[in-house]
Amino acid sequence: MGHREHWSGRAGFVLAAVGSAVGLGNMWRFSYLAAENGGAAFVLVYLIFTIFIGLPVLLAEMVIGRGAGRSPVQALSHFGGSVWRPLGGLFVVTGFLILAYYSVIAGWTLRYAISGLLGGFGGDAAARFGAVSTGIAPIAWHLGFMAITAALIASGVRAGIERSALVLMPLLFAIVVGLAIYAATLEGGSGGYAYYLSTDFGKLLDPHVVVAAAGQAFFSLSLGMGAILTYSSYLDRSHHLPNESVTIGVADFGVAFVAGLVVFPLIFALGLQTEVGESTVGALFITLPHAFQEMGGAGRVVGVLFFASLVVGALTSAVSLLEVVVATAMDGLGWSRPRAAWVLGAAVAALGILPAHDLEILGLMDQFAGNFLLVAGGLMLSLFVGWAMEDPIAEVLAGAERVRWFPVWRGLLRWVVPAVLAVVLFYSTESLRAMIFGTPS
Ligand code: TRP
Repeated sequence: MGHREHWSGRAGFVLAAVGSAVGLGNMWRFSYLAAENGGAAFVLVYLIFTIFIGLPVLLAEMVIGRGAGRSPVQALSHFGGSVWRPLGGLFVVTGFLILAYYSVIAGWTLRYAISGLLGGFGGDAAARFGAVSTGIAPIAWHLGFMAITAALIASGVRAGIERSALVLMPLLFAIVVGLAIYAATLEGGSGGYAYYLSTDFGKLLDPHVVVAAAGQAFFSLSLGMGAILTYSSYLDRSHHLPNESVTIGVADFGVAFVAGLVVFPLIFALGLQTEVGESTVGALFITLPHAFQEMGGAGRVVGVLFFASLVVGALTSAVSLLEVVVATAMDGLGWSRPRAAWVLGAAVAALGILPAHDLEILGLMDQFAGNFLLVAGGLMLSLFVGWAMEDPIAEVLAGAERVRWFPVWRGLLRWVVPAVLAVVLFYSTESLRAMIFGTPS
């Protein structure tokens, strides 16, 4: 591990990990899932999953990554022997699949930001989304976004990943908070708050809501495929991992929650809530530009800022997805960083042409990789750290000697997390099957 790069310090790691967590998942995916699954009921279940399932798994990934100082495949075999290697392989495949469609959506947002800046949000919003998401254009913007991602990864952990997060994350926070304050001044937005923040408790136990919330907790925290694990492999043993995991969790939930305070009042203030009703992956990309257009001059500024913050979040997240694949090739095949970044970035870019071309494939990939595979990966990770790994508590104790509740953490990973995730997986295969074979659910 002689030449392995390290973060410059505490802020470097935390910002990069928050950069990974905060992305399209917090704004686009969170808002459309909340709209689809009954607003606050979803938000509440999602918060519970984040605290009791997400945070323990987050700490588990950090412990494995820092302890081994290796990317997922090598880290898992370091602690668990060769039986656990395939789990690392699954992580890499999952990262590949997620980045392929993630970059497509990022490409749309990049185009919205730039065309909004140059020409505003005029014209028919649905037709505009059609132009953005069909034909050659989405492929071109996806390839452009992947090129930027690969270039950042090629320049290294500190110069590329850390420095971009250092500049971009504060910018994103400022924009999102500013937009939420602005949204609060809109007349007629109160219906949006009511929808977002009041709940029908019957929905709390609806399997669809639970499955969506569990998947979202993993997606949003970048869990279940070794991204946080890989970032943690560049840490040294002075870091207080539990504190860092809480910081990451709070920042991630905070941005998602505040993004909801932007999206819902905006949509309700302009009376566009029925448009979101027929929610698909693209709904927000039609409804929000429509809202910006109705708002006239202010809408243009707000819209450009909104999409700029999406682009920024997407970039620091895409970087973490590619880093898993790249670090694996560096550790396992001895490739240089630039070579791994460009070759594997090109491979992901090629795969992404499919979802760029076909929205249905994009939705399917999100269901399968962004929901099912992440939850499955999280389940296996918790079994690994809960049962197979020799002494995970000793690994956390480095840098956090005073903490006393680690047995509770391991207990959660042994019993609670696997049991809950097994139930979630059971239900999510049901909806996956319905999706693939077209049986009405
Ligand atoms: N968490 C990011 C978001 O919310 C996306 C992301 C980055 C991700 N790395 C990941 C999702 C690893 C799952 C796994 O946009």
